[in-house]
Amino acid sequence: MRPIDDSRVVVSLEHAATTVGGRTIWSDVTLQVRAGEFVAVLGPNGVGKSTFLKALLGLQPLSAGQLEVLGTHQGRQNARIGYLPQRRAFDPSTRIRGVDVVGLGWDGDRWGIPLPARFGGRHAREGDERVREVIELVGATSYAYRPIGECSGGEQQRLLIAQALVSRPDLLLLDEPLDSLDVTNQASVSALIQSVCRSQGVAVLLVAHDVNPILRYLDQVIYLARGGAVMGPPEEVITADTLTMLYGTPIDVLRDRAGRLVVVGQPDSHTHHHSST
Ligand SMILES: Nc1ncnc2c1ncn2[C@@H]1O[C@H](COP(=O)(O)OP(=O)(O)O)[C@@H](O)[C@H]1O
Ligand SMILES: [Mg+2]
Repeated sequence: MRPIDDSRVVVSLEHAATTVGGRTIWSDVTLQVRAGEFVAVLGPNGVGKSTFLKALLGLQPLSAGQLEVLGTHQGRQNARIGYLPQRRAFDPSTRIRGVDVVGLGWDGDRWGIPLPARFGGRHAREGDERVREVIELVGATSYAYRPIGECSGGEQQRLLIAQALVSRPDLLLLDEPLDSLDVTNQASVSALIQSVCRSQGVAVLLVAHDVNPILRYLDQVIYLARGGAVMGPPEEVITADTLTMLYGTPIDVLRDRAGRLVVVGQPDSHTHHHSST
């Protein structure tokens, strides 16, 4: 077991809860994420995984409890967080080049509003240098100068990860980055994220609806439920006992011949809407 060292804590929640439209999404969430950890955020559709990332960004207020991100109570305006929102692919007609999309991570608004190139000088030169560096880091050099709409899903996702990394974040929040990718690209993007995590010491929280593509790369998983969350190594958390306790309904965890985990009986939180105000 890793020794407890509070100096390495980058995300800390204590009895945290949040509401959207008057409805409690999740509550009593207590957990800590440390520097350099690769963590998956899991749970059924609608359980509040995207909302969880927004809370860490300071875009979604807590209704109870405490939240600390990189030593402050407010994640907003924190350039040390890289964020990749949940999204679909770029339209094939998108003309903007990959390198320019990556550059938004340097001199655009962090969440995608481009600024005119009016700064010039040293800041811009440093930016160009850093953009080239992260494009190389994610292995996108050969296609970064083409219109991003012409890139494949996996290539687009690597470019967006590069964008999130430009500002040298200590925390990377990725909302379902593997969703639109085929199996081969899911594996290679997962391996890329793990290597970024290891080589840059950045803590990664990655939202996924299927843990299997990332299982071998992960350090920890967070399973979210309305009444709480459990965090721990995948083999301890993704078990029938733990998930049955967390959701209060019988859940089975099966393992197929290829070692893939299949969670059976997991509630779809949409079926609980009527009872949850
Ligand atoms: N703008 C909104 N207004 C009302 N309800 C919302 C809004 N955004 C999200 N929700 C609800 O909040 C819950 C959590 O959403 P979300 O965090 O997107 O879940 P997940 O990412 O786990 O699928 C869902 O039940 C969703 O329907
Ligand atoms: Mg979501």
